[in-house]
Amino acid sequence: TGSHAAAGFHVVITAGPTREPLDPVRYLSNHSSGKMGYALATAAAAQGARVTLISGPVALATPPGVERLDVETAREMHEAAQRLAGECDLFIGCAAVADYRAESPAEHKLKKRDGETGLTLRLIENPDIVAEVAARPDRPFVVGFAAETRDLEAYARDKLNRKGLDMIVANDVSAAGLGFGADDNAALLLWRDADGDGGEVLPPQPKSALARAVIERALERRRATAAH
Ligand code: C5P
Repeated sequence: TGSHAAAGFHVVITAGPTREPLDPVRYLSNHSSGKMGYALATAAAAQGARVTLISGPVALATPPGVERLDVETAREMHEAAQRLAGECDLFIGCAAVADYRAESPAEHKLKKRDGETGLTLRLIENPDIVAEVAARPDRPFVVGFAAETRDLEAYARDKLNRKGLDMIVANDVSAAGLGFGADDNAALLLWRDADGDGGEVLPPQPKSALARAVIERALERRRATAAH
């Protein structure tokens, strides 16, 4: 269902996992499929927005009409996000960014060493992409995601505040058949603005429908925020 609710808007979305190299042939990553981020890109484009997808490595086709920037590491994703953050209206951080990367990836393939039963990797923290976008003076409306296994609302509300976001999409990842890799998802949408705290329950539904609802609410809240 196309509409023009987002015409004239530039929406930037991070999606998928990041890959953090350990050596030339190995990396640290996670099971993010990118489906939710790609569904958001599809929904925003269908509503008439110009959409840029900053994508980690995923096995998904680029949605029609969407501009896609492929990245691998959190630092590459961070750089692309900072480049685009000042010129977009809505930024959605949907990527499952690796929290840590190898402090010094090996230049050559790591070898198994005789007599050693363990290997210690030294990791350092990656930049928090969505929080840094939200901290900019020229910030767009910023939406983040929170995957939790308990106390969904409290943890998500804390993440919303701590990262300085305008809205957060909270998922209970302990629910069977939803979330990671699945085609359906449910969410608790939380926001904060000049009117105070707000929220809405989005029941289990296809990621495409959920994505449409998230884009619609974000545009609504952005308008309400801009009106103050
Ligand atoms: O802190 P946590 O990883 O649970 O937060 C999830 C939210 O933060 C998501 O919106 C995710 O895309 C974003 N994030 C980020 N950069 C990181 C870690 C998380 O943008 N390094």
